[in-house]
Amino acid sequence: MEVLTPAVAVGSRTGLEHDESKNQHTAQEKLPPSPPATDDNCSTSDDDGVDIPLPPPTTIPTKTLDIDLKTPDSHVPRDPRLIRLTGVHPFNVEAPLTALFDEGFLTSPELFYVRNHGAVPQVRDEDIPDWELSVEGLVENPIKITLRELMTEYEQVTCPITLVCAGNRRKEQNMVRKSKGFSWGAAGLSTALFTGVIMSEVIKKAKPKRKAKYVCMEGADLLPNGFYGTSVKLNWVMDENRGFMLSYKMNGEMLRPDHGKPLRVVIPGQIGGRSVKWLKKLIVTEAPSDNWYHIYDNRVLPTMVSPEESANNSKWWTDERYAIYDLSPNSATCYPQHDEQLCLTNAPETYRAKGYAYSGGGRRITRVEISLDKGATWRLANVEYAEDRYREVEKDLFGGRLDMSWRETCFCWCFWSIDLSTADLATSKDIFVRAMDESMNVQPRDMYWSVLGMMNNPWFRVTITREGEFLRFEHPTQPALIPGGWMERVKKAGGNLANGFWGEKLEGEASVAPSAEPVKEISMVKEDLKKAITIDELRKHDGAEQPWFVVNGEVYNGTDFLEGHPGGAQSIISAAGLDCTEEFMAIHSETAKAMMPTYHIGSLDEAAKSALSAGDVEAVQSTGDSELFLHSKAWKKAILHGKKIVSWDTRIFTYKLEHAEQRLGLPVGQHLMVRLKDPATRETIIRSYTPISEINDKGFMDMLVKVYFADKGVAGGKMSMAMDSLPIGHFIEMKGPIGKFEYLGRGRCLVQNKERKIKSFVMICGGSGITPIYQVFRAVIRDPEDTTQCTVFDGNRLVEDILCKEDLDQLEAGNQHRCKVLHTLTKANDEWTGLRGRITGQLVQANCTRDDDTLILLCGPEEMEKSMHQALLEQGWKDEQLMFF
Ligand code: MTE
Repeated sequence: MEVLTPAVAVGSRTGLEHDESKNQHTAQEKLPPSPPATDDNCSTSDDDGVDIPLPPPTTIPTKTLDIDLKTPDSHVPRDPRLIRLTGVHPFNVEAPLTALFDEGFLTSPELFYVRNHGAVPQVRDEDIPDWELSVEGLVENPIKITLRELMTEYEQVTCPITLVCAGNRRKEQNMVRKSKGFSWGAAGLSTALFTGVIMSEVIKKAKPKRKAKYVCMEGADLLPNGFYGTSVKLNWVMDENRGFMLSYKMNGEMLRPDHGKPLRVVIPGQIGGRSVKWLKKLIVTEAPSDNWYHIYDNRVLPTMVSPEESANNSKWWTDERYAIYDLSPNSATCYPQHDEQLCLTNAPETYRAKGYAYSGGGRRITRVEISLDKGATWRLANVEYAEDRYREVEKDLFGGRLDMSWRETCFCWCFWSIDLSTADLATSKDIFVRAMDESMNVQPRDMYWSVLGMMNNPWFRVTITREGEFLRFEHPTQPALIPGGWMERVKKAGGNLANGFWGEKLEGEASVAPSAEPVKEISMVKEDLKKAITIDELRKHDGAEQPWFVVNGEVYNGTDFLEGHPGGAQSIISAAGLDCTEEFMAIHSETAKAMMPTYHIGSLDEAAKSALSAGDVEAVQSTGDSELFLHSKAWKKAILHGKKIVSWDTRIFTYKLEHAEQRLGLPVGQHLMVRLKDPATRETIIRSYTPISEINDKGFMDMLVKVYFADKGVAGGKMSMAMDSLPIGHFIEMKGPIGKFEYLGRGRCLVQNKERKIKSFVMICGGSGITPIYQVFRAVIRDPEDTTQCTVFDGNRLVEDILCKEDLDQLEAGNQHRCKVLHTLTKANDEWTGLRGRITGQLVQANCTRDDDTLILLCGPEEMEKSMHQALLEQGWKDEQLMFF
C-alpha cells in the first residue's frame, strides 16, 4: 500500500514514498531552480526541456515559532517572514509584497498567504490515508471516501491555480472607513501547482438527485459558530472548464497544515473563501449553505449599509445577490516597491514598473493600462501569462496529469511590466494601474466601500514625491497595523480620502475636521507609570489574595475593588493572573473604564505577553472530564442541543455539557457568562445569564432567553439575536460562576462572601430579570423545611410577556403561607384581572413590612432598578438590604 507522507518530493511520480526530513530544498535539488522574478517573472524548464514554470526553491519550516508555542497551533511550523494580520492567533498572514512577487509565478508554500478562521486541525501523518470525506445530501448514492481511495481510484490531475482572498487590498477600504475586516495589503494571493481529483468525478459517483442545485462543503475546523463551511452551485462543480478540484498536494508536496492538510477544495477563479480546507463533507442540497460562515462572510453588501445597519438587520446577510463567488479584475504594482527611491542623478533613461493582475471565473486579463496623469491618458503595459506555457505540454507532474491544452480559461495571475521614462516619472505625481478582462470588466476608478471591505479593486495608485535628487514612491498602504502609505499620509494631513480625488485638496475644499477622526479612547492607565511586570510577578497574584489581572497588556490590582465591584468579588478573582481584555472591554461601561487608572500598577513585559496568550486553552484542557462544567477561569464550550420556542420572542435553549454525568456547577443565585461572536460585526459579545434548569441537572442545562429583535429603527439585543441565530449543534462558550450573592438555603445567604441570615426575601423583577430571581425563589419553595418568606413582584407589559408564569404560579400554589407572587402589567388587555401599572414603592409598601431581616433582590431594566432603589431608600430600607443582580 502506498503511504502518504506530509511532504512529497517535487518531481516524484507518485509522490508517495518520501522522507520528510530529507525534503529540505527538494525543489532545488531535483529541479533547476526558478530564478527570482526576472522581467518575465518565471522562466524555468523542466527536465524534458519544455518551458513551464516550476516551483521556486522551498524550505519546509520544521520548528514551531516561539510566538505560536502557546497557541492551539503549536503543532504548525511556519515561516517568520509572513506578516500577521490578526495578532498571534488565528493565523492570517500575507508575505511582504516584494518577496511574494520575487518568487515568481509560483509561490512556495511557506510564503503562500494563509486565511484561517480558527485553529488548524491536527492530523497525524499515519491517519492521513484514512482521512474520510463524505458525500451526502440530495444524492442517490451517499458515499464515504478515504484519501487513499481518492488517490488510487480516480484520475489525478495537476494544475496551476491562483488563490485570492476576497479581502485582498482591504487595508485601503479600512483607511477610508473602518470595515468589519482586518487589513490585508496587496499580497493576499498566491499561486501553486495543485494536485488532486476533479471534484465533479466524486460528485458524479454520488449521483445527485433531480432537485439538487448546490454543493455545500464543510471543513474539520470547529469555530465559534460551527465548522467552517460554504457552498457553490452544483452546475459549476460539474463544469470541467471551471476546474473545481479536491486537492492534497501543492507544488508537489503534501498540503501543509495551514493550507488544509490533508485535503482541501480548490476553486479557480473564485474567492479563496470557497476553497474549503481540511475538507470532511460535501453535501448536495437544494438551497445555498446555511453555514454561519457562508451567511456572514464573503459578501459585498450595498455601500450604504453601515456596520450598525448590517448588525441590526439580518436580511442583508441572507440575500444571495450579495454573496461573492467569481473574482473581479484587479491589479497592483510591485515595482516600484513601497518607499523605493530613485536617484535622478545618473538615472537610467527608463524605469521598468512591474506588478500583477488577475480576474475571476477563468476570464483572461486582456489589457493592463498605466496612467501618469490621473487617468487622463493611458499607456498599454506588456502582459505575461506564464500560465499559457503549461498549455503547450501534456505530461505527468507530481503524480497528476497536467493537460491544459483543451481549455482556454485562465486560473492564474499574470504579470505586467512597462518601461516608463525617468523624465516622465520626475514630472508626475503618481502611477496608476488598471486591468481589464476578456468580458471588458475594468477596474473602477473609485473604491466601492462595503461593510466587509471585500473585493477592493479600484485603480492601484503609487504616489511619486520629489525629494531633492530623489523620487520617492509610496504604495497606498502597508498591511496590518504597519504604518506607511500615501493614504495614511493624506488622512493625517486632513485630506478626505473619499472625495473622489484620492484625498487631494480640491479648490475651495476644507480639510476634514478633526471630529471626523475616531473618538479618543478613554485612558485606562496612569500616564506616568512605567513599570514592567513579569509573568512570574503576575502569576503570584492569581488567586483571591491580591488578585492582579491584565487588560490590553496593562496590569491592574483588583484588591481594593473586591468589595465595591458591582459584578461581585468573584469575577475579579476569576480573572486573577489572566488576560481578561476581551471580556472586560465587552461588559464594562465608559464609567468603569475611567476608573481603571486608580488600579493600574504597570505594564506586562513582552515575554509575559506571549506567555499569557494561551491561558484559556490550558485551563479548558485540564478540566474536560470534570464533574462540574463551569470553570471560573476558562471558557468552556456547550453545544446547542435544542431550542423550544416559548413565544414569538422567547426561547428555551438547551445546551449539552461535556458528558452525561456532568453538572453545571452554578450555586443558587449566581450567574454565568456567555460568550459569542456577533454574526455581523464579529465583535465578541459577553453577557451574564442565569439558567432555569435545576442546579443539579446532569448532562444538560436550559436557558430561558428573551430575544430582543430589532424593530423600526431600534437596535435589537446583540446577544439574544446571536443566540437565536445559532444553529443546533453549534457551540457557545460559558464561564463562571460570577455574582456577589449566593443562597445557601434555609435563610442563609452569602453576600460578598460574608454569611448573613435572613427571614424573608422581597424579590423585584422586570421582564427577563425573572431568571435569577426564579432560581432563588424555587430553591426556597422546593425545600419544605425552608421557612424564609418570599414576596415576588414581577413587572411586564403584556400577559404573554410574563416569563416562567406557569412555574411561578405552581410554586406559589400550596405554599401561600410562605410566598406571594404578584404580577403587574403596564399594557394588559381588558381580560386581565390582576395588578396594573409598573412596580412602585407604594406597591412594595402595601405588600411587605420593612424589617432588618429582609433582603431585597432586584433584577430588571436599568430604569426600573434605579427608580426602585430610590423609592426603597425613601421608605427607610438600607443599601445593605438591597441586592442588585
Ligand atoms: N477552510 C476552512 N476549513 N477554514 C477556513 O478558515 N478559510 C477560507 C478558505 N478555506 C478557511 C477555509 C478562506 S477565507 C480563504 S481566503 C482560503 O481558505 C485561504 O486558503 P489558504 O489559507 O490556503 O491560502
